[in-house]
Amino acid sequence: MKDIKNVEYGLEKIFEGAQDFLPLLGTDYVELYVGNAKQAAHYYKTAFGFQSFAYKGLETGCREYASYVVKQDKIKLVLTTPLNSKSPINQHLAKHGDGVKVIALWVEDAKKSWEETTKRGAKSFMEPTTEKDEHGEVIRSGIHTYGDTVHIFVERKNYNGVFLPGYQEWKSDYNPEPTGLKFIDHMVGNVGWNEMNQWVKFYEDVMGFVNFLSFDDKQIHTEYSALMSKVMSNGNGRIKFPINEPAEGKKKSQIEEYIDFYEGPGAQHIAVATNDIISTVKAMRARGVEFLSTPPDEYYRAVPNRLLAHNHKLREDIETLKGLGIMIDADEEGYLLQIFTKPVEDRPTLFFEIIQRMGARGFGAGNFKALFESIEREQEKRGTL
Ligand code: FE2
Repeated sequence: MKDIKNVEYGLEKIFEGAQDFLPLLGTDYVELYVGNAKQAAHYYKTAFGFQSFAYKGLETGCREYASYVVKQDKIKLVLTTPLNSKSPINQHLAKHGDGVKVIALWVEDAKKSWEETTKRGAKSFMEPTTEKDEHGEVIRSGIHTYGDTVHIFVERKNYNGVFLPGYQEWKSDYNPEPTGLKFIDHMVGNVGWNEMNQWVKFYEDVMGFVNFLSFDDKQIHTEYSALMSKVMSNGNGRIKFPINEPAEGKKKSQIEEYIDFYEGPGAQHIAVATNDIISTVKAMRARGVEFLSTPPDEYYRAVPNRLLAHNHKLREDIETLKGLGIMIDADEEGYLLQIFTKPVEDRPTLFFEIIQRMGARGFGAGNFKALFESIEREQEKRGTL
């Protein structure tokens, strides 16, 4: 048996073929446009264990919108709500419902990141802009990606304030315990029919990413529905963006359901890593997070052989994993443990994945069938299968 170590800060690997014109240091923050940021922040604190971190709104002199930043280890979520009917944020909300607007990437040089990506064909969202306060300066720039989603490049090497200029520290008397979420492992985008390869090319040409894993509809299907997926990674492996598109099946693909309800392409799920998925999922379940239904007994009966086939030994107790609905997948390098929440808003759009990597670099391909059957049970209830 190989000794598999838990890898705390991602599985870094320099991918050959990736371009270094856009060195990315990591995910900086993810901004969601939501209908009621105050209540959303309470949900992410109470249910997911995020901590109050920073705030911008009427009290700080911002009269257009309110933004609450919640943080857990390296993960920062920004929850933003417009404060009047004229804000362009309303159009995004009316069309998409609550969802991810910004996937912000931490860079050394935001001006160069903007120049290099726009030169290669990216559509500008925000020209390089310097924001200052008494704690220093931050330079941000941005480009459009799929749908109405954008990437913002954040250069913060000359800043020592809490989050960004314009934000103040958010101190709260209500501070629920963290649940052990550490960092963003990957973020998945759903795009329309026949659009996956166009966005693969965008990440290759514009961002210098490489396509390091691909799954076609022969691999990702159930009796009823199918999808295709290609995983894009930047050179150091810290940023991983799988891109999904629907595929023809007997019934409706979950990707098509997403596109119908989000009214276009968008971020499908945010996968967050933990070092101890058992305690994380126990805590999240106790705090009211809803997860997809547990796979059937035969799934768990097959797990030991799936691990043995790759010469790995499961360290966790399988009955505990089964009791919590946690799924297990293995590859040559190790195994991984994962579970998926139900959508975190009323439209069946954005959801979260909780993942613990025990050496494996994959995305749970061995679980796709069981996972999609769980999703189909939900689609059935929604009348969208
Ligand atoms: Fe995932």
